[in-house]
Amino acid sequence: MSKTAILEIDGKKYEFPVVIGTENEEAIDIKTLRSVTNGITTIDPGYKNTGSCESAITFLNGEEGILRYRGYSIEELAEKADFLEVAYLLIFGELPTQPELDKFHNDIKAQSHVDEDVKKILDGFPKSAHPMGVLSSLTSALIAFNPSSVNVDSEEDMYKAIVKILGKFPVLTAWTHRKRAGLPLDYGDENLGYVDNFIKMMFKKPSGDYTSKKTVVNAMDKLLILHADHEQNCSTSTVRMVGSSHAGLFASLSAGINALWGPLHGGANQAVIEMLEKIKEDGGDTKKFMEKAKDKDDPFRLMGFGHRVYKNFDPRAKIIKKAADDVLAELGMEDEVLDIAKALEKEALEDSYFVDRKLYPNVDFYSGIIYRALGIPVEMFTPMFALGRLPGWIAQWREMRLRKEPIGRPRQVYIGENLRQFKAIEKR
Ligand code: CMC
Repeated sequence: MSKTAILEIDGKKYEFPVVIGTENEEAIDIKTLRSVTNGITTIDPGYKNTGSCESAITFLNGEEGILRYRGYSIEELAEKADFLEVAYLLIFGELPTQPELDKFHNDIKAQSHVDEDVKKILDGFPKSAHPMGVLSSLTSALIAFNPSSVNVDSEEDMYKAIVKILGKFPVLTAWTHRKRAGLPLDYGDENLGYVDNFIKMMFKKPSGDYTSKKTVVNAMDKLLILHADHEQNCSTSTVRMVGSSHAGLFASLSAGINALWGPLHGGANQAVIEMLEKIKEDGGDTKKFMEKAKDKDDPFRLMGFGHRVYKNFDPRAKIIKKAADDVLAELGMEDEVLDIAKALEKEALEDSYFVDRKLYPNVDFYSGIIYRALGIPVEMFTPMFALGRLPGWIAQWREMRLRKEPIGRPRQVYIGENLRQFKAIEKR
């Protein structure tokens, strides 16, 4: 028998169906709430209890620390797949066969050229501009160079838009870095894999060839996979929301990049390294900073800790922590901030403030340490997150359009002034 939920208001009972997901998650379907109750709405700031959609892309169980893309565990994908395979999986729902993957990669490569005039737009930014602002602007600018809107009723049209952005976005990301670093813009090498080529586009010197280290490519692949999707987070919800107005894919993605930028979301990876560096410069007294994080009168938060959904270990953080150790060892490097991070984690996991609130290290706590070891400057950490999240945003946008979801338009409870009479300016 199907489950229902009863809501009683002023003695009147209303019945609503309970939707059950494939992993037995239950949700009260309140689609008819306003019509049957004559205008009563719900309020849930931050959407802590609100599901915005049904989705078949990513499964996340925050209590048990489970993350799966299209049914595959994040642990297995991070170990066995490469980023492009995962991108295909997220967007189209199945792991590609070798011919499907080759075609996908070739189609992406064929679309990787960026109009030369985009360089003029990039030139207009000061070198000091934050790369996330530059990237979102350039992603928006791509619309001007690809103005025809995507016909979402045509899978072919949709596919073309998808390979276009997957081809051009790594170029824009690498160019954003090269412009800041004063390096000439470059297109990399078509014969390389997607991630290998991206690394070459980032680091190739003006003269001489560049071959990336296998360790670097593998670590980058893993990081991008771990960031590739995370169901209805702030930036993904933004992409779906903007796309729900039938704004195009690139416009929706540009909005998602801006949402990701914030330090409570993707910007945390930059904030973590800056915090760890600050602790190091201050003499490495982790206990002092733990006290600051717990002090409600101090705005300091332990960046890279806590998560809206995970009330257990973020499975991505576990993988990244191990990868940080491996990458530093393979590259023969040492990083004092890794020791500081580990000390903070240990203290937090034994501290009742963090234990009671179920605050654990999240994906951003150790990722910056790896990015830094790979030679990526701090301001480029969040663009790396954006590059990784790109397939997830695309998959979610595509799903939202294919399911013909209605325009996103939340309600509110008005708490302002009641009707007032206008006063002429001289009488105010
Ligand atoms: N340091 C100290 N206290 C914290 C922290 C932290 N990092 N995170 C949460 N708390 C406390 C918070 O003060 C509150 O305490 P109380 O109940 O006494 O008022 C309690 O824990 C619950 O926190 P919240 O802010 O209500 O939880 P939320 O679900 O709204 O926020 C969060 C989640 C990720 C924004 C938050 O944990 C945070 O600000 N963390 C630091 C920033 C960060 O690492 N963000 C990356 C998130 S993962 C990657 C991504 O999404 O991009």
